[in-house]
Amino acid sequence: MIKIAILASGRGSNFKSIMEEIRAGRCNAHPVVLITNNPDAPAIDIAKENNIPVEIVNKKDFASREAFDSEIKQILDRYEAGLVVLAGYMLILRGRDLLEAYKNKIINIHPSLLPAFPGVEAQKQAFDHGCKVSGVTIHFVDPGLDSGPIIYQEAVDISDCKTAEETAAKILKTEHRAYAKVIDMFSKGTFTIDGRRAMFTSGKIRL
Ligand code: GAR
Repeated sequence: MIKIAILASGRGSNFKSIMEEIRAGRCNAHPVVLITNNPDAPAIDIAKENNIPVEIVNKKDFASREAFDSEIKQILDRYEAGLVVLAGYMLILRGRDLLEAYKNKIINIHPSLLPAFPGVEAQKQAFDHGCKVSGVTIHFVDPGLDSGPIIYQEAVDISDCKTAEETAAKILKTEHRAYAKVIDMFSKGTFTIDGRRAMFTSGKIRL
């Protein structure tokens, strides 16, 4: 079973849904640690309820981003994480050592069909743009903003959404289902999702 480290900065609904899918036997993973940059993140309570160790790594305690990311790498090494799962982690990982050591082992979920609408409030960006379809992207992490090779995408019809909030809520339901599926895929090493081979649209990655 794959050991996963969760990185989250806030609410943690994706983290919670991963825990639910693990309990339901639909996601074959063992969460070993929650790492957060936010000492007030509600995600911390989810970790505590599930007896998962919490490591708070606060940016203000570090002289540089390199030192901050290096601390994260040391924690991941200590917990022997096999997969690093960014679930609403709102900082860009830039540390060269971290990204080298965990190449193709750090994944992120983003609430749009990338490369459309990277960054914050992707759902509002899509709604304000008048999109009829948006969706969810799960991708490998590189030093850019929501820019690494794409692992999995799922479209969401948002044509009936009347507000940005409604759009976000509809996309979130798909996030919750999709993320656990992708983690399960990594754990099993099949690299198929629902019987179909996961596509790497950048063409840079073949697992
Ligand atoms: C989710 O919608 C996630 O896709 C998004 O933050 C939200 C976190 O919610 N992430 C990004 O926008 C990354 N660029 P959660 O804390 O309830 O999982």
